[in-house]
Amino acid sequence: MLIKQFARKVLPDSTYHALSRVKNGLLSVPEHYKLMERRKKGERYLSVRIDTVSACNHRCQYCYTLDLTGHRTQLMSLADFEKTAQNLFPYAHSLALSCAWEPTMNKHLADFIRVAARYKVPYIHFVSNGAILTDEMMEAMVTCGVDRMAVSIDAATPELYKKIREVNDLDRVLKNLRKLKALKDEHGVSKPVVNINWTAFEENADEAEIFVRENDELFDTFWFWHLLPRMRNTVNPFHRMERGRFFAVVKRLRAILGDRLTSTEFNEDRSNKPYGTCNRSLENIRVDPVGTIEVTCSKHVLDGNIFTEDFADIYVRNENLFETLYKKQTDFCQNDCDR
Ligand SMILES: C[S@@+](CC[C@H](N)C(=O)[O-])C[C@H]1O[C@@H](n2cnc3c(N)ncnc32)[C@H](O)[C@@H]1O
Ligand code: SF4
Repeated sequence: MLIKQFARKVLPDSTYHALSRVKNGLLSVPEHYKLMERRKKGERYLSVRIDTVSACNHRCQYCYTLDLTGHRTQLMSLADFEKTAQNLFPYAHSLALSCAWEPTMNKHLADFIRVAARYKVPYIHFVSNGAILTDEMMEAMVTCGVDRMAVSIDAATPELYKKIREVNDLDRVLKNLRKLKALKDEHGVSKPVVNINWTAFEENADEAEIFVRENDELFDTFWFWHLLPRMRNTVNPFHRMERGRFFAVVKRLRAILGDRLTSTEFNEDRSNKPYGTCNRSLENIRVDPVGTIEVTCSKHVLDGNIFTEDFADIYVRNENLFETLYKKQTDFCQNDCDR
């Protein structure tokens, strides 16, 4: 990581990206074969994310879901989740019960947690805005041993929270975190680990310090993540920070949180990045509410549906796509991707 940051600082952009492409190209070959070894031995080799609903109760003004206005809301039923579990979970070493949308918008979340626990996936987690968590959902998390819940909070004051999210839910979220803590204490367990996802920008960075001081007992770990630009040509009312400003806040947070500050990702503006520097692993699978499966990113959709087929069969039918992907030779990887 340090070498990467150093190279990013001292090399001209074009050299940095050319090196990055070569590195990703070289590394993806052994990584792919390692993954295939695990698959052939029948080991768990996938990192699965499932969106069981495509809707949200908040409207964070920086969120990329706002770019999808006009999309159809889709909802996964409990029966379809059961089929997904049967066909996919035996291959998963980690399972996120959320990805792009808000998982608590599906009223079956507690059932989903209970089903997932039966398959003994080694690491189960999800990310939520935490506003409409129910007692049943929290009970399921605690009794089934969900490993981590990340809660996205980006303000310490109700005023800024509402300005960012268009809803006045900060008190509700904190109340839910208090309830969850009481429940964990009552059961004498440390899981789920509660992580705060703080998406950081110029306007909310200083409130992070206030938040962690005022709510120290409500969370375990904290991520301070730099705001990503939304789609090209969209207007975001919030502003990305310069590197120096970002790390100055990180330093102050580190002084308060120490090791509990577990991730501080700064990203450069990728909108002018050259094509083909993707480093996403082929272990990353996303399932949407209607059972469609994407690998690496939304541009690569597998032929098949997880509600009706075992993932091993879907894999075999899509082997050519996997081969092309690890060599980063798809049309999209080579000509369009700006990651
Ligand atoms: C899209 S949300 C979905 C899960 C859930 N609704 C939540 O807010 O946690 C997942 C994470 O993406 C972050 N996010 C959304 N738009 C972003 C952007 N433009 N840059 C960086 N992070 C973003 C959110 O803050 C949140 O932590
Ligand atoms: S709560 Fe999550 S999905 Fe909903 S708008 Fe905010 S960041 Fe996006």
